[in-house]
Amino acid sequence: MAWLYLLLLLGSCSHTDGLDHAPPRYNISLDLPPDQRWEPILRHYNYTYLRQTMDYFFQTTLPKWAHAIIRPLAEVDLVFLVHEPYAGEIKGISRTVGVSVGDIVALNLCYEATAFCTSIIAQDEKGNIYHGRNLDYPFAGLLKNLTMDLDFIRDGKIAYTGTTFLGYVGLWTGQSPYKFTVSGDARERGEWWENAISAFFKRSSPVSWLMRDTLNDARDFQSAALQLSKTPIIAETYYIMGGTQPKEGLVITRNRNGPADLWPLDPLIGEWFHVETNYDHWTTPPPKDDRRTPAIKALNATGQANINTDSLYKVLSVKPVLNNITIYTTVMSAAFPERYTTQIRNGD
Ligand SMILES: *[C@@H]1O[C@H](CO)[C@@H](O)[C@H](O)[C@H]1NC(C)=O
Ligand SMILES: *[C@@H]1O[C@H](CO)[C@@H](O)[C@H](O)[C@H]1NC(C)=O
Ligand SMILES: *[C@@H]1O[C@H](CO)[C@@H](O)[C@H](O)[C@H]1NC(C)=O
Ligand SMILES: *[C@@H]1O[C@H](CO)[C@@H](O)[C@H](O)[C@H]1NC(C)=O
Ligand SMILES: *[C@@H]1O[C@H](CO)[C@@H](O)[C@H](O)[C@H]1NC(C)=O
Repeated sequence: MAWLYLLLLLGSCSHTDGLDHAPPRYNISLDLPPDQRWEPILRHYNYTYLRQTMDYFFQTTLPKWAHAIIRPLAEVDLVFLVHEPYAGEIKGISRTVGVSVGDIVALNLCYEATAFCTSIIAQDEKGNIYHGRNLDYPFAGLLKNLTMDLDFIRDGKIAYTGTTFLGYVGLWTGQSPYKFTVSGDARERGEWWENAISAFFKRSSPVSWLMRDTLNDARDFQSAALQLSKTPIIAETYYIMGGTQPKEGLVITRNRNGPADLWPLDPLIGEWFHVETNYDHWTTPPPKDDRRTPAIKALNATGQANINTDSLYKVLSVKPVLNNITIYTTVMSAAFPERYTTQIRNGD
């Protein structure tokens, strides 16, 4: 029952600490072998605490049958199931924290499930592109303390930047400087675990690993859009992208095997922003979870002349766009990479 005690402890901590604040920001070196990259970051954390958090996730999020399948298979077949750099990084994390490789794989799949989010892309009157996101997740109290911004360094330069949770090798939010920004929102469907695990065993990519691969590989906005649209993934999702040129804004609605819909910004006909939450943009969100309409109202009230990273942050702070399971807000603009900013939210 240690995890229950932990949860109570964390719950009380997040209430006394009522202020929004930046998470820690670390460099991670892509020039080190994958199994050595995370150790300098992990060293800042308490491994006992991490192991307890993992147990808590397994008890609350991961179906028992899924844990029973993933754990031994990942142990035996990691290199077959998981491509690099993730196999090496997972091995390194498991060795440092002192848990099995199978458990780190399972933890990574836990974080893939049940993320509710809001993402917004917008273009100002001068043609600058802005991108913002809220990441909402049921165990916000635990994850706020494990959230970090990471600069992925190659040859002494920032290859890409992202926001993630400790122990999680994928990215749900990221920026390739002077190229593009990307965020992912879950496209909730039934049978998530059944579908995701069978696709994972067919070697489809977790949703957030494809985002990181694309940040690492893509030369420009167009090739990133192509890679995010067509690569097989383990669960349906929305990929929201911003570029550096006017009209470079796109919401990709994904099926597991390919795109279901592409929805570009179209400022010439007045579509200077798009809001994507967790519902297809051509449908009406359910009234009990409508974060889309309040976000659109706030953007209308802001106006295209006044949109920038600061005003976008304010839009993402309007309730219920900001809600009691919002972990963090990130605002970014690929043409101005130094403006990448994340705040841990203590909205209520
Ligand atoms: C949050 O993480 C920091 C850094 O590892 C740690 O010092 C602190 O004790 C954690 N807070 C809680 C409530 O566990
Ligand atoms: C690490 O976390 C465990 C469990 O939360 C706690 O009992 C222990 O005191 C912590 N160690 C340090 C050095 O903070
Ligand atoms: C991170 O890497 C960048 C680029 O090499 C460097 O300028 C910066 O000082 C590093 N930051 C830290 C905290 O080491
Ligand atoms: C936002 O503004 C557009 C264009 O004026 C309008 O069609 C739309 O109904 C407005 N939406 C909301 C929710 O206010
Ligand atoms: C969060 O807000 C929802 C709806 O506003 C409410 O039903 C729920 O009880 C709240 N949860 C927590 C943990 O405060």
